[in-house]
Amino acid sequence: MRPSAKVYQGTPRDLTVLANALRQGELVAVPTETVYGLAANALDARACRKIFRAKGRPTNDPLIVHIHSLAQLHAIAIPNPAALKLARAFWPGALTIVLPKRDVIPDLVSSGLPSVAVRMPRHALFRRLLKKTALPLAAPSANPFGYISPTSASHVQASLGRKIAHILDGGPSRIGLESTIVDLRDPQHPQLLRPGAVTRADIERVLGLRLKTPRQQRENRPAISPGLLKRHYSPRTPSILHARFSNAAVARSSLREAWIYVARPAALSGKNIFHLDPRGDLNGAARRLFDVLRKVDAAGFDRIHLERATGGGLADAINDRLERAAAR
Ligand code: TXA
Ligand code: MG
Repeated sequence: MRPSAKVYQGTPRDLTVLANALRQGELVAVPTETVYGLAANALDARACRKIFRAKGRPTNDPLIVHIHSLAQLHAIAIPNPAALKLARAFWPGALTIVLPKRDVIPDLVSSGLPSVAVRMPRHALFRRLLKKTALPLAAPSANPFGYISPTSASHVQASLGRKIAHILDGGPSRIGLESTIVDLRDPQHPQLLRPGAVTRADIERVLGLRLKTPRQQRENRPAISPGLLKRHYSPRTPSILHARFSNAAVARSSLREAWIYVARPAALSGKNIFHLDPRGDLNGAARRLFDVLRKVDAAGFDRIHLERATGGGLADAINDRLERAAAR
């Protein structure tokens, strides 16, 4: 069996080693403020093919390309004024923008689409690595295809550690949910492809336009953005989403059933009861969601019950992930 991946803490020497590995076409798992990514040189189709292989990801699911500077944006995509407005407002940060691509981006990266998804991440260590490598880096979430996204180096080690050689440890991901994806190929008709920490309202305020939700996303038809399949980010344990738990039902539940409260103060406690944020803070709930889902999934419960988040903003992104976790 392959040895497990080496974990790097991000010393200047580590960054030199990892930048060289990336330039030579190897894979490196990287920390970001959203979730950990599995990175390769985005200009090298052979390197990017390794990402699909390590994740078991179908090649019809395109990759997000991470950049360090606006010069790199212009080198790989054709941004319009609306995209530049969003970039100024939210980059570096948890927003991915889909734009017409330039030829330097291999078809494998865009799954044959004429567009590319681009993000400038905020995580300081990843930014240093991007700068040192001086290449755009393609990086989907560093999890086996369809499983829960990783928010720590140990999550990556647990599920991909024997398939890759390098993991850069940048601590737990501060946001904990994948980036918001907005399709700006047609700047008059922007579409929200995936909700995230940059909210619909944030984007609409900057653009002065309403965001559409594509039908393909509502009906789970993998046409524009194949990765947005309904069942995704999923635990293996059968999971059910509830609008609101009845405390009486939770109290008399079998200990073989797990109950995950998202952000409800003063709920019950017990061995099979979990609270993402008992103070009711959605930021804390988002940050812990995938870690708790992984732990509960590994604990051997018969079923996982999930409770919807309420409110606007981050609640939409959390509920999107809960719906996917519970989708059959
Ligand atoms: O926060 C994030 O976005 C993380 C970190 C690592 O940056 N990345 C991430 O990547 O979540 P991934 O591959 O798990 O999700 C990328 C999504 C997929 O659903 C894919 O279908 C969509 O982006 N996508 C990529 N390129 C696209 C394109 N050209 N048009 C539409 N959707 C695209
Ligand atoms: Mg993913």
